[in-house]
Order: sequence, then C-alpha cells, then structure tokens
Amino acid sequence: MRAISTTPQGGVEIIEVADPQPTPHQVVIAATAASIARGDLNTSRLRPPPSLLGLDVAGVVVRAAADGSGPAEGTRVLGYSAGNAPTWAQRVALDTDLVAPVPDGLSDETAAALPNSGLAAFDGVAAGGFLLGARVLITGATGGVGILAAQLALLAGAASVTGQVSSPARASALPRLDGLTAATLDELQGPFDLIVDLIGGDVLTRALSLVAEGGTVASLSQTADETATVPRFWFATHPGARLIGVDNRVALRVPGVGTRHLTLLAQLAASGQLDPMVSTVAPWDQAGDLMAKMDRRELSGRAVIRIA
Ligand SMILES: NC(=O)c1ccc[n+]([C@@H]2O[C@H](COP(=O)([O-])OP(=O)(O)OC[C@H]3O[C@@H](n4cnc5c(N)ncnc54)[C@H](OP(=O)(O)O)[C@@H]3O)[C@@H](O)[C@H]2O)c1
Repeated sequence: MRAISTTPQGGVEIIEVADPQPTPHQVVIAATAASIARGDLNTSRLRPPPSLLGLDVAGVVVRAAADGSGPAEGTRVLGYSAGNAPTWAQRVALDTDLVAPVPDGLSDETAAALPNSGLAAFDGVAAGGFLLGARVLITGATGGVGILAAQLALLAGAASVTGQVSSPARASALPRLDGLTAATLDELQGPFDLIVDLIGGDVLTRALSLVAEGGTVASLSQTADETATVPRFWFATHPGARLIGVDNRVALRVPGVGTRHLTLLAQLAASGQLDPMVSTVAPWDQAGDLMAKMDRRELSGRAVIRIA
C-alpha cells in the first residue's frame, strides 16, 4: 500500500510500505480522508525521517476485528490513532476502542477532522467540570481544537465563551455563535471559570492571571516555543484555582470511552451542532504544501486530505 512519509529534506512524499498487520482487537480501514493537525507538524519534526504520519482517519472497514469487537466490514467509520499507527495511508489498523461509525449525512472529510481535535477539545472542556453558566476562555481559538472547544463549551452550558485570537482580523475565522466573542490577548478581561489553553508559553502565563477563584486552567498545548511561568503569589491571588495538564490519550485508557466520545462528536456534527470548519480539502499529494501553510499560519480551521 502507499502512505505519506517524511523525507530527510524536511518534506513529505508518498511511498510504498507494507500493509498493516492488525492485532485481534483491530479493524482495518480503507482510508478515504485524513486531517492535518498541529500534532502532525510536531511529529514530522520530532521523529527522524523516514517516518509515517497521521492521527485521524475516515474510511470504510475492510476487515473486522478478529475478536468480534467493533464495527462490521463495510461500516463507514472515523478513527483516532492516538499516535500508535499512521493514518495518512491507504490502509489503517486501529483498535476498535478508537473507532466509531459515521452517521448518514456526515461526509468523510468532516468526520476525518473530528477525532484528534474533537477528543482534545472534549477533554479540555470537561476539565472545567459543571459548566452551566460558566465563563470560558479558549486560547488559540481559531485552530482546529479551539474551534471545537468553543462550540463544546457552549453546548455544555457555558454562559459565555471568549475565543482568544492573534489579531482582530482573525476573529473572522471563528464560528458565528451566540455566546462566543473574540478578543486579542490584550483585550482579555477575566475572570474565567475555565481556561482551555491551546498555545502555551506567554499566552498561558497571561491566562493564569485571568482565572477565577476556584477556576481551572487546562493546558493542552505544544505550540509556543517559550516556557510559561506561574505569576508570583498566584496561589493567593487566585485561591483554589488549579492548573491541570490534559492529554487526550489519558481518557481513552478507560474501555469504551474512545468509541463513546467519537460517536458523540460524529452525531453532534451530523446534526449540525458541531462544525470542525473544514476549510480545505485536497488530494493527499498536497499534504506537504498544506503542512507548510499550517506552519506559516495561513490556514484557518482544518485542512483535510483525500487518500487515493
Ligand atoms: N494535549 C492534547 O491531548 C492535544 C491534542 C491535540 C492537540 N493538542 C495541541 O493543541 C494545540 C492546538 O492544536 P491545533 O491542531 O488546533 O493547532 P492549529 O490548528 O495549528 O491552531 C493553532 C492556534 O494557535 C494560534 N497560535 C498562536 N501562536 C501561535 C504560534 N506561535 N504558532 C502557531 N499557532 C499559534 C493560531 O492562531 P492564528 O489564527 O494566528 O494562526 C491558532 O489559533 C497544539 O499545541 C496541539 O499540539 C493537544
């Protein structure tokens, strides 16, 4: 089969590789679409080439799991590799705990934009606990995770969601939703009961100064290069506030959670309540160009590649 690999020159290319060998608990998916996330950029830099890429996939099950778990052959599914298998490939073997059916009416391209970003957004928002009436801040709100986190926070009952944007012009990249407003870092006014930080560094430092008493700052990010600092006497000026690290692979350790959350994300998207804002759909030989565009911050929402 063919798959996308990194090259020593810092790009990507489609190469011939062996088909995946599924374990008894895995389905094999004939991939039709996959999304490009910041995590893919990070992986392409951190792992020595040649290295296969991809976290998300949508496609059709061509081999059911030998242990009888998961969807049957012919089921249209979305899936998340959790970093354990490359998904920018014609065939993808995934644990049945990390796949879910795609409802009728949801395109493969939109489904492919949901797993990694949606699970991260879900866990970031869930870190805030009971959100009815809460004031929520999402930093990096124009990114793939941020767009979904803002929508999930409103669905969870937040009274207001502020989406932090890098400039006033970038506000146009946010979904138009009652209760969601855009603000630059300088314009932010706390306190916030929940802050989902998707940038890190100086933005996280600033976010820590905006959390309400007893509020939560959920840190998910690997974007900014610099290190965040906890403001002096933070414990006294923000009593009871907590800073927690969120990794979307952690919740998935509980059996059934991955499929349940992926099913929910897909159903919300199919019913029009959640939109990953896929802005670009392109053939997979353009993955390198799209990654470069993402790196230059020229993309809004999610870019999706069609696997041929
Ligand atoms: N912990 C987890 O489980 C988990 C899972 C998935 C993703 N993540 C992390 O979540 C973060 C967001 O992921 P994503 O896929 O949504 O990323 P993305 O689509 O590339 O979005 C990045 C967002 O950050 C903003 N930004 C601010 N400073 C930036 C900088 N120096 N470089 C690039 N962007 C910058 C961008 O603003 P502009 O509008 O100006 O471009 C954009 O809103 C990443 O750090 C990713 O690694 C964590």
